[in-house]
Amino acid sequence: LAGGLYSAFVSTYVFDNVTNTLTFSRNSPTGQSPSWITLDPRNRSHLYAINDQSTGALQAYTIDSQGYLSSPTDTISSGGDGPAHAAVLSSGAVAVVNYNSGTGRIIPTQSNGLKFDTSASTLSFPRGGNVSHPHQIVEYNDELLIPDLGEDTIWRLRKGSNNVYSIQGSIPQPTGSGPRHIAINNERLFVLHELASTLSVSDLPASPSAVAQTFASVSIVAPNPPAGSKWQAAEILIPPTSNDFPTPYIYVSNRNTGSPLSQTPGDSIAIFEHVNKGQANEGLKLINQVYTGLEQIRGMQFSASGDYLVASGVVGTGGVIMFQRTDGGRNLVKVASNTNVPTRTSFIWL
Ligand SMILES: *[C@@H]1O[C@H](CO)[C@@H](O)[C@H](O)[C@H]1NC(C)=O
Ligand SMILES: *[C@@H]1O[C@H](CO)[C@@H](O)[C@H](O)[C@H]1NC(C)=O
Repeated sequence: LAGGLYSAFVSTYVFDNVTNTLTFSRNSPTGQSPSWITLDPRNRSHLYAINDQSTGALQAYTIDSQGYLSSPTDTISSGGDGPAHAAVLSSGAVAVVNYNSGTGRIIPTQSNGLKFDTSASTLSFPRGGNVSHPHQIVEYNDELLIPDLGEDTIWRLRKGSNNVYSIQGSIPQPTGSGPRHIAINNERLFVLHELASTLSVSDLPASPSAVAQTFASVSIVAPNPPAGSKWQAAEILIPPTSNDFPTPYIYVSNRNTGSPLSQTPGDSIAIFEHVNKGQANEGLKLINQVYTGLEQIRGMQFSASGDYLVASGVVGTGGVIMFQRTDGGRNLVKVASNTNVPTRTSFIWL
């Protein structure tokens, strides 16, 4: 399933990995701009979509056996302007953050997740010199980690005895770097900075008020970019390891929002390896830059087996592309594409 900014539908595709074909089946209508979609891990027939617009909203749906969405089972205000991300927490509540208004809402659910609790309060992120732009919610142990692109920090939230989340600390990022998305693996925090187009690795102290140590920060920009390029890092993924993929490579997408690119070679996905953990030279090693042919690649998602990666751009006509992960994860090879819908921004695999 693929959601998209500037549309009002979620697209359903079927991927056949024997014939390597990606077939479009249908667009299911949704509210405006479902730029981020996510499943309820407790029941993978339940989907949440944000409405990424000034009167932001969160919607719940069921998914039928064809992979099509029901009409919304519920819709609730996201508590602000421009929701960019939603995540289902282990409690069953759905957390959503609003990029433009610097607010968020943690919304308990009822009816097995299909109805929202309207009494959920809205939380505002502190504003320092800049405007807060919270971009993602990651639940880790008993914390929520929220990268804030405007405030150049990662907020650390914990639930108090009153059952309400509040900010307990933060992990400051370089000024102007614009942290967008993060991933946690092997007790390390990996941060993708949208404005600086950098990837960093730091520790994640148990205490939210402790100071984190950054071990390395590297550029993700591919060599010899076209004139007028303006890079904005988008997504970071670290798929789980398996027999076929024993190394936890880090996959980051980058978009050129500067001068329009021709479709070739398009934006790249950079593949990194986290090396020398715990040693003085702990760092991030570039393994590969894979050109996608896509313009302004944003969302991408690995299949459950980790064998395939689906991706799309937010502009242009490149549609949806399927890559096979090869060479133990050190490379991505395009095996299928579908251009029925020209742009998509977020994916889930059923
Ligand atoms: C999952 O959700 C579907 C649709 O709401 C429902 O029919 C099914 O019973 C649920 N499954 C479980 C295990 O709760
Ligand atoms: C935040 O403000 C500083 C100056 O106070 C500026 O250098 C930086 O670019 C700003 N960051 C963003 C994301 O606007």
